[in-house]
Amino acid sequence: MQRGFFITLEGLDGSGKTTQIKRLAAWMEKRHLPPTVTRQPGGTTTGDRIRPLLLDSRSTGLAPMTEMALMFADRAQTIAEVIQPALDAGKIVLCDRFTDSTEAYQGGGRELGSEIVLELHRLICGNLTPDLTLLLLPSLESSLDRARRRNERHNEQTGQDEGRFEQEQDAFYRRVWEKYREIARREPDRVILIGGNLGIDEVHEQIVEAVAEVLLTARKNG
Ligand code: TYD
Repeated sequence: MQRGFFITLEGLDGSGKTTQIKRLAAWMEKRHLPPTVTRQPGGTTTGDRIRPLLLDSRSTGLAPMTEMALMFADRAQTIAEVIQPALDAGKIVLCDRFTDSTEAYQGGGRELGSEIVLELHRLICGNLTPDLTLLLLPSLESSLDRARRRNERHNEQTGQDEGRFEQEQDAFYRRVWEKYREIARREPDRVILIGGNLGIDEVHEQIVEAVAEVLLTARKNG
């Protein structure tokens, strides 16, 4: 059966990924390419139960290895339940965060290193690799500001607390940011880095340009 196409969006908290995924999905729908959209952590019934363990700031004392293992547990479930079936059916999958997040946050931020993340990815995720990764990486300072403001608003509006990561210090986010850049340098064919402090429309344009190009190439080669 024809394999679908796997696109991931990555970036720091507050990089505007969620808005961009919605706009990209709408753009695809207009072109009669409705994507399967999912996110990590979460995106399945099991994942939605794992998510609060990871994100609630009352989850104190979570060891970095536990945190990483939970991210992979969530991912294994999403692959089995959502991503692989959609790809097998020839669909385009749009996923909000994937293993690059684990490499950046747990490998970089928590200083577990890339090697263990990539090894677990091979063992647990069968090395499933996105065809294209859109990495939104505005300046570190503006990402941090947006993440903190958004988290305060979210907590006020919903009474939910998903701020465990946003409470981290700037040094943690600097390591995440640097690890993302390292991944982009290592895999330039897969990862498109959208940097700078661009507006929502400009980022959207860069995203659709990249997506249109790779889809066209894939169609030619397929
Ligand atoms: P989420 O609310 O999805 O954030 P955003 O909208 O910014 O993507 O929260 C996901 C948080 O979990 C985010 O702070 C990054 C973190 N995370 C990891 O640390 N490792 C991972 O493997 C994944 C998928 C997420």
